[in-house]
This record gives sequence, C-alpha cells and structure tokens, in this order.
Amino acid sequence: MSSISTEKTIPQDSPILVFDSGVGGLSVLAEIRAKLPNAPVVYASDHAAMPYGERDEAELAVRIPKLLIKLVDRYRPKIAVIACNTACTIALEYIREALDIPVVGTVPAIKPAAEQTQTGVFGLLGTRATIRQHYVDKLEADFAQGKLLLRAATPELVTAAEAKLSGGDVDRAIVENSLRKLIDSHPNGNMLDIVILGCTHFPLLLEELQDAAKAMKLPQEIKFLDGAGAIARRVAALTDGQEWPSECAPGLMVTTASVEVLQPYLNSLKGFGLDSLHVIDAS
Ligand code: DGL
Repeated sequence: MSSISTEKTIPQDSPILVFDSGVGGLSVLAEIRAKLPNAPVVYASDHAAMPYGERDEAELAVRIPKLLIKLVDRYRPKIAVIACNTACTIALEYIREALDIPVVGTVPAIKPAAEQTQTGVFGLLGTRATIRQHYVDKLEADFAQGKLLLRAATPELVTAAEAKLSGGDVDRAIVENSLRKLIDSHPNGNMLDIVILGCTHFPLLLEELQDAAKAMKLPQEIKFLDGAGAIARRVAALTDGQEWPSECAPGLMVTTASVEVLQPYLNSLKGFGLDSLHVIDAS
C-alpha cells in the first residue's frame, strides 16, 4: 500500500477515520492520538450491529464495506483505520476494494507473539467470529510453526469492555474465566506466556486482565500483546508529509445507534477527545 499522495491537495482538516463495531477501536485511537496529537479524527462505531463477533461472515462482508463507503463519502477522511479484528479477518479485502483511500487493518498479532514466546505456548483471545477465520489459520501456519497457539472465543470481554466505558463495573470473575478458557484448552496450557488481545475491545481491560493473570499464579508471567502501537506507526508512516492543523481539533464520534444508546458512553468518549456525536443510518 502506498502512502497518501502529497501531490493531490488534501485539506489539513481531512480526518483520520477510525472504525469499529463498538468502543473497542478507542484502544487504537488512543495510540494514534499519542503519535499524531493534532490529527483531526472521526471515530465511527456500528453499535447498531454490535457485537460483530456473533454475526455471520456473509452479512459482515456486505454490511461493513457499505457502511464505510457512506462514512468516507460523508466525512472525507484521508485514511481509514479499521480498528476491528473481526471486520478485518473477514472483510479487509472487500473494504480495500470499496474505498479509494488508504486502509489500515487490524489483525491478531500472531507474528510478534510467536517471535516473543519463551515457552513456545501462546494464546489468542478473540471474538467467536475471529478465532474461526481462515485468515487466522493462515497467520498461524505462516508464523507459528513449531509453537503451540491456543485459541479461545471470549465475547464476554466485549460486553465487559462496553460496560466499563459506559460507566459500569467489570466483573473480575468473567475476566479470570476468559484466561482460564485458554489455559484449560490444552494439557500444556499452563505454559502460556503470551496472550494476544485479538479484539480491540480487550486492551480496554488490560489492567483487569493483568490482575487476573497474577491471581492465577502461573509458573511464568503472562504478557499481553495487541497491535495498536504498530497500527499507529503505520498511520504515521502513511500520512508522513501531510500537514496537520496547528492545534488539536475536537474529535467527532459517529454511530449507527441512537443518541440515547450512546448517552452512557459520553464521559469516556470525552476522555478520548471525542466531544461531539453524530448518528448515521447504516441501512
Ligand atoms: N472490537 C472488535 C474486534 O476487534 C469486535 C467486537 C464485536 O463487535 O464483537 O474484533
């Protein structure tokens, strides 16, 4: 993928579009903001269809590109970041075909995890849809030869992250059980030393996951890995040479759900620099 052409005049205020089913992509937005603090951002959530992980491939492969075309048409971003592993492992090629701007995807960090595991046993937590994708089988075949990759579907962590950002409490037992699923999935499960957070919602629960891992008293410490830092670096590289406004502009939140549905999230959204809210019709 080439970087954004500097020959075409792209307005300074053309935003970076960050897209996810729900608030998970905020974990990616935070890294992008840290790297490019003055970049205007539009964060779009498809809350009307969340959770993606419980939907089928054919539906998502049609819905997501269609919605992104609408968003690009309306907000004219210079780049689109698909901050959703479920969307990308199912529909990244259709999204790229549909959009005429650079697209940065998010897929489970299997390659770096396979390189970093000391015990040779590492795990992937993701949505039900992500962990069954051929895309993930291929990453495993390409990068995890000779290592043991355990997989567990933990949609309950999507619900927990959404609850946390809408002002609710996180049930620590749910978080601990999600790690337990990985460990119990194989007789060598307690050798696990790296857990890939293969859903952008999960880094929003990093503290809870780290506490749960400690409480389990495994023979080795567990390290949690996600791709947000690498995505932010990729966005910075692709937008290198672009002019940004001299001050940080307030970010915009766009959702396919209603203002009422998003109401409980408004405080958290402000913390991520998203000060105003639009609703877009996904149909
Ligand atoms: N945040 C999403 C991901 O990275 C999906 C969560 C969901 O809607 O199920 O996979």
